[in-house]
Amino acid sequence: MTTRRLVISCSAVLVGAASTGLLRPSSARAQSGRVRVGLMLPYTGTYAQLGVAIENGVHMAIDQQGGLLGGRAIEWFKVDDESEPGKGVENASKLVQRDKVDVLIGTVHSGVQMGIQKVARDTGVLNLIPNAGVHAATRALCCANVFRTSFSNAQPTLALGKAMVDRGHRRAVWITWKYAAGDEAFEGFKQSYTAAGGSIVKELGLPFPNVEFQALLTEIAALKPDAVACFFAGGGAAKFIRDYAAAGLKNKIALYGSGFLTEGMLDAAGPAAEGIITTMHYSDSLDTPRNKQFRLEYAKTFRSQPDVYAVQGYDTGLLLVQGANAVKGDLSAKPALYKALEAAVIDSPRGKWRMSRAHNPVQDIYLRRVENGENKVIRAGGHGRATRSAGHARPAPWLRHCFARAS
Ligand code: PHB
Repeated sequence: MTTRRLVISCSAVLVGAASTGLLRPSSARAQSGRVRVGLMLPYTGTYAQLGVAIENGVHMAIDQQGGLLGGRAIEWFKVDDESEPGKGVENASKLVQRDKVDVLIGTVHSGVQMGIQKVARDTGVLNLIPNAGVHAATRALCCANVFRTSFSNAQPTLALGKAMVDRGHRRAVWITWKYAAGDEAFEGFKQSYTAAGGSIVKELGLPFPNVEFQALLTEIAALKPDAVACFFAGGGAAKFIRDYAAAGLKNKIALYGSGFLTEGMLDAAGPAAEGIITTMHYSDSLDTPRNKQFRLEYAKTFRSQPDVYAVQGYDTGLLLVQGANAVKGDLSAKPALYKALEAAVIDSPRGKWRMSRAHNPVQDIYLRRVENGENKVIRAGGHGRATRSAGHARPAPWLRHCFARAS
C-alpha cells in the first residue's frame, strides 16, 4: 500500500515540474552530450573544509568506476554557496537554469538546502544531498527527485542520549548553533536522553557561525551539569573544543556531541579533543577491508585523511554511478532513474546501506571516542554499533504525512 502511494507521489511531483516546462531536454539530446553535474557546496567560511572533502569523495568514487556516468563523459559546474541561506535559491538556480545541470549535488548547510529543495521541487532536477540533514528534505518536503546520502539531523543524536546515561551522566546541558541542524539534533538528543532517564538542565545557543563561546562556557561552569552535549561542525567545532578546554571544563564536565564535533577537525583541535565521545554513522577506525582500502586510496590521492564528509561525497558518487548506469546515461529517463536510485545498495566505507522510503540512508550509528587523534569505535552493549537507524523513532507520523500529502 505504501509502495503504491510512493509511486503516486513521485508521479505527482513529475507532472508539476513538467507543466512548468523546466524539465531537462529530451532523451535524444541528453544522451548525445556530456552529463552535466553541478556541485553546490561551501568553499569559504566555517564549512569550507567540508565542501572540499565532499567534492574529493564524489570525484574519487566516479574515477574508480571509470570516470563516466552510464558511458557518458562528465562536464562539471561549481558554485560556492558560502553556507549562506539567503542565496540558496539564487545559487541553485544558477546551476539549473544557467548551466542546465542534469544533477545538482549539494549541499552542507541545512538552511541553504531549503533553497535547493525549492528549486528541485519547482524544476524536477535531480538533487543528491551529500550532507545537509534538514528534516524537511526527507519529511514534509520529500520528493521523487531528491535523495540524501548522509543522515537526517536527529539521526546521530537519537543514539547519544542512552550512551550518556549508561555512563552515569544524568544532568546535561545542550549547546549548539541556533539553526535547523542544531535544533533538529537537539530533538534527537532530547528524545533519547529523557527516555533513558536523563534530564536537560539548560538549552544554550548562539547564531551560526558565531564562535564567541566564552559567556556560554561561563554559564556552563556555573550550572555544573554532569555532562555537556552539543552540535557544532567544521572550523567552529575545533574552536569550541579548544575553548572548552581553555575554560577549564575538559576534566570537570564530560563533553559529548553528534560526531560532526570531531570530524575532520582533530588536528585543529589538538589534545583538547582527546576523550570526547560522539555518535556518528562513520568512524575512522572501522576495521573492515572496505574502509581500510578507502582510507588508503583517499590519503594517496588527496594527501589528507578522509572524514565522514569525504565518505558521504564518495557514497554520492557511488549512488550517481549506479543510477546513471541503470539508464545507460540517459538521466532524463526519470522513473527508471529514480527506481534505480531507490533500489541501490551502497557499498560504503561506513558499511552497506540503502535508502529509506523517504530517500534517507538506513544505517548504523557508531559510538566513538577520540583516542590519539582518531575517532575510535568503542563498545556499546557488547557491540561497536550504538543503533541501526532510519532517522526517526517508530512510529514515524511524518513518514505517513509525507506519503499522504504527496498522494
Ligand atoms: C547541516 O547544516 O545540516 C549540517 C552542517 C554541518 C554538519 C552537519 C549538518 O556537519
